[in-house]
Amino acid sequence: MLRNFTFAKIPIFVAKCNLMQEIKKYVEENKQRFLDELFELLRFPSVSADPKYKEDVLKTAEFVAQKLKDAGADKVEVCETAGYPIVYGEKIVDASLPTVLIYGHYDVQPADPLELWKTPPFEPTVREGKIYARGACDDKGQFYMHVKAFELMMQTDTLACNVKFMIEGEEEVGSSNLATFVKANTERLKADVVLISDTSMISMESPSIETGLRGLAYMEVEVVGPNRDLHSGVYGGAVANPATILCQMIASLHDENNHITIPEFYDRVVELSDQEKQVLNSAPFDLEEYKKDLDIAEEWGEKGYSTLERTGTRPTLEVNGIWSGYIGEGAKTVLPSKANAKISMRLVPNQSSEEISEIFARHFEKIAPKGVKVKVTPHHGGEPVVTPTNGVAYLAAEKAIKESFGKKPIPTRGGGSIPIVALFEDVLGLKTVLFGFGLDSDALHSPNEKYDIYNYYKGIETLPLFHKYFAELNK
Ligand code: BES
Ligand code: MN
Ligand code: MN
Repeated sequence: MLRNFTFAKIPIFVAKCNLMQEIKKYVEENKQRFLDELFELLRFPSVSADPKYKEDVLKTAEFVAQKLKDAGADKVEVCETAGYPIVYGEKIVDASLPTVLIYGHYDVQPADPLELWKTPPFEPTVREGKIYARGACDDKGQFYMHVKAFELMMQTDTLACNVKFMIEGEEEVGSSNLATFVKANTERLKADVVLISDTSMISMESPSIETGLRGLAYMEVEVVGPNRDLHSGVYGGAVANPATILCQMIASLHDENNHITIPEFYDRVVELSDQEKQVLNSAPFDLEEYKKDLDIAEEWGEKGYSTLERTGTRPTLEVNGIWSGYIGEGAKTVLPSKANAKISMRLVPNQSSEEISEIFARHFEKIAPKGVKVKVTPHHGGEPVVTPTNGVAYLAAEKAIKESFGKKPIPTRGGGSIPIVALFEDVLGLKTVLFGFGLDSDALHSPNEKYDIYNYYKGIETLPLFHKYFAELNK
């Protein structure tokens, strides 16, 4: 009797126990469909920045909602906001289990410049095992791994945590309506941790977890000179040229050490301890490879800091766009009436986006010569964050990666920004794990953005392990 009983129990026990095998089997059986569905998602040109794509963005939200329903989510809703909707869905298995709030974004950056794409941005194409499409990595390919991992856990009856999905459509334009949504839905969004796949790993051989993101202050400036475009011969030399003035003003924002010259800019910046620096710089990084990849002869940056420190831990100021005067075919002799630029600053703890915007505006107005008028308009912003490496959630992510990749992940600091992360912490008191599977070389925001099919499946395989370990460690 006893023997029979034991034998009968064994197969079930083994199946439950060996989650990895079960995961691999399910992924193998559904491989093609997982890819086809992602392709369908990538075909929507959900460019949030350009009103021309409004209908497509809205259709993408509907598609995501349908896929969440198909995967087994309850209470799926396309939630209206003052801008593009937020797709919500949940599966509460048991109130006593921990809850994972999964965040992602279904909007993408504009595909411009179109002529530099080898294949059209919204017709996903596979070359050498990589999917080329706008949003392939940022963030459709990455958030969709969660939808498929959720389906997998539902179908194999292995969902170890409650899950809530919140997929937004305005991340690439600053998530300006998200704060209102989060504040109005604190009950609905209650969770134990936020899980986001929208960042990069060092490489598949050196898996890593980003433990910080920079903040952002994005400004637009206008320098206005004479009341109309002038003949550059008749007036040139006697009237300040706004294009020249703007270039001088912008050039003055960095000194000879590439340090930013705006007074008070660095006042709140937290310097890393020697030990933190050492950990950061011990991550595998090949400067020669980096330069070769970008086809640059030399790296650039603030004196006294390594490349990893510069992108992960130091604030920066970049010109994102600059325009003035005649830029059409041929030549036109003109002294332009105005010049414009879009300037963004990446921020680090404990800088504040609002404060830096004010400091910038004050300084920029002050350095303008009398011959021109200056207008500074702030766009969106976001706060910097550092995510903990000592909590249960980080530990669960670390264990999941270790099991799936066979290597313990390296903690790194990311240079990009995801404004929602600070918001989740402030409004919901939630910490985030940045569980990204992209690569910096995936050309996010650039032409020929890509995502490796291998990474896509690897992500789907790794995520259920996170849920398993997060539940276990929370017991
Ligand atoms: N996914 C990126 C952020 C990112 C990329 C973080 C790679 C770390 C590594 C996100 O979609 C993004 O592009 N964010 C914007 C900010 C937003 C306010 C426009 C950014 O960082 O420029
Ligand atoms: Mn993103
Ligand atoms: Mn992006």
